[in-house]
Amino acid sequence: MLAIGVTAARGVPWVLAMPLAGVAAALLVGIAIGWLFGRAQRILAAQKRREIAKSKQQLRAIFDGITDGLIIVDRDFTVMAVNKAEAAFLGSTPQELVGKPCYEIYCRGDRACESCPAHETFATGKPVLVSKIEHRSGYHRTGVDVYTFPVKDEDGRTVQAIQYIKDVTDRLKLQSQLREVEQMTGIGHMAANVAHEIRNPLIAVGGFARQLHEGLDADDPRREFTSIILEEVTRLEQILREQLTLERHLQPVLAPVEVNRILKDVWKLLSHGMLSSRVRLIGDLADGLPVTMGDTNQLKQAFLNVISNAIQSMPDGGRIEISTEQSGQMIVVTVRDNGPGISKEIMDKLFVPFFTTRKAGSGLGMPVTLRIVENHGGNISVDSAPGEGTPVRISIPIVRSAPEVEHRVLYGDSPEVPNDETAGRR
Ligand SMILES: Nc1ncnc2c1ncn2[C@@H]1O[C@H](COP(=O)(O)OP(=O)(O)O)[C@@H](O)[C@H]1O
Ligand SMILES: [Mg+2]
Repeated sequence: MLAIGVTAARGVPWVLAMPLAGVAAALLVGIAIGWLFGRAQRILAAQKRREIAKSKQQLRAIFDGITDGLIIVDRDFTVMAVNKAEAAFLGSTPQELVGKPCYEIYCRGDRACESCPAHETFATGKPVLVSKIEHRSGYHRTGVDVYTFPVKDEDGRTVQAIQYIKDVTDRLKLQSQLREVEQMTGIGHMAANVAHEIRNPLIAVGGFARQLHEGLDADDPRREFTSIILEEVTRLEQILREQLTLERHLQPVLAPVEVNRILKDVWKLLSHGMLSSRVRLIGDLADGLPVTMGDTNQLKQAFLNVISNAIQSMPDGGRIEISTEQSGQMIVVTVRDNGPGISKEIMDKLFVPFFTTRKAGSGLGMPVTLRIVENHGGNISVDSAPGEGTPVRISIPIVRSAPEVEHRVLYGDSPEVPNDETAGRR
C-alpha cells in the first residue's frame, strides 16, 4: 500500500495526490480527536472519582460527627459500618469492627443477640425501637434506646439495618426524679388532708381530757389514765405539725419561667419514647408569651402528667395538640387528645388521689397536677365526653413577683374562661 502510494505520489500530478493527503489529514484529526476524547474521559472519570471520594468523606464526617452510636449491619448481622462514637464505646476503632458479626461484639455469642431490634426490622421492613437492651453476657446498656431503620434495595427487600443507639441516662434520671416528685407531692398532699381532718377532733379530745384531768382529785387513780391521754394527744399533735411542715416544703420555689420553654423540654422528654406508640405530638405555641413566676420542675411535672395521660389513653395511636395562648392576664396551655374521652363517672373522680382506671396507674397524676396549678394561683378544666377526645386546659396567671402568686393562691382571681366550660373545672 505504501509503495503504491509513494509511486503514485511521485508518478502522478499533484491533483491526484490531494485526496491521499486529505485521507492522511483526516486520519490525523481522527487520532487527535480520539486522543482528546480519551483524555477528556479520563479527566471526567478522575473528577467523578474525586467527587465520589469527597461525598464519601462528607458522609463519613457526618457519620462520625454524630455523638450517639450508629452501626449498619447486613442480614447476616455483619458490621458494614460503625461510627467513631460507637467504636469508642466498644473500646475499638471502626476499621477493627467492620466485617465482624455484631453479635460477637455485643453479646459475645455465636448468633444474633435475642433482644436485638434488627430481627424485627429485617422481618417487617419497619423501624423498631427498644429501650434498655440487655444481653446475658457482653455489653449491658440499660441507659440506651436502640432504634433500627431498614435499608432497602430496588426490589424493596430490607438488605441492611441501621441501628441508632441513643444514650438516655439523663432522661431516665429526670423521669425518675419527676416520678419521685409526683409521689412525694401526692403523698404529702394526702397526709396534709388527713392531718387537717384529725387536728380539729384532736383539739377537742385534748381539751376535754385536760378538763377531766384537772377536775380529778390529786390521789384519784384515774388521773393516770387522763395524763396518758394528754401525753398521747401531745404526741399526735407533734406528728401532725411535722406532716404540715412537710406539706409546706412542697410549696413551689418561684422564679421567672417561660411556659413555652418548659413545654418544649417536656416535649423532648416524651418524643423519644413515642416512635413505637404511634402518637403524634402537634405543637402550636404562641409567640411572645410573657415570662411569669413559677416552679419550673413542678410545672414540668404538671404538663408531663397531662400529656402522659393523653398518650396512655390512646394505646393504638392518635394525635395530641399542645397549644399556648395569652388570655387576659393568664397563660393558657391546652393539651387536646383525640382519644376515647372521659365518662361522667370518671370525670367526677378525676382529681381524687389514687383514683385510676389503668392497671399500672398510680391515680396521682391529676390530683398532683391540680395541686401544682393551684399553688401557682391557676386553675385547670377538663371538658370531655366519651368518644370526643379530651381537652385539658391549664391556666397560669401572669405575675411579676412571688407575693403576687401567694396573693392569688389565697384570694384567687377571676380568670377569663367561656361560660360553657364548667365540666371538671377546679
Ligand atoms: N386524656 C385522658 N383521656 C382519657 N382518660 C383520662 C385522661 N386523663 C385522665 N384520664 C382518666 O383519669 C384517670 C386518673 O388519671 P391520673 O390521676 O393521671 O392517674 P393515672 O394516670 O395514674 O391513672 C386515669 O386512670 C384515666 O381513667
Ligand atoms: Mg396519669
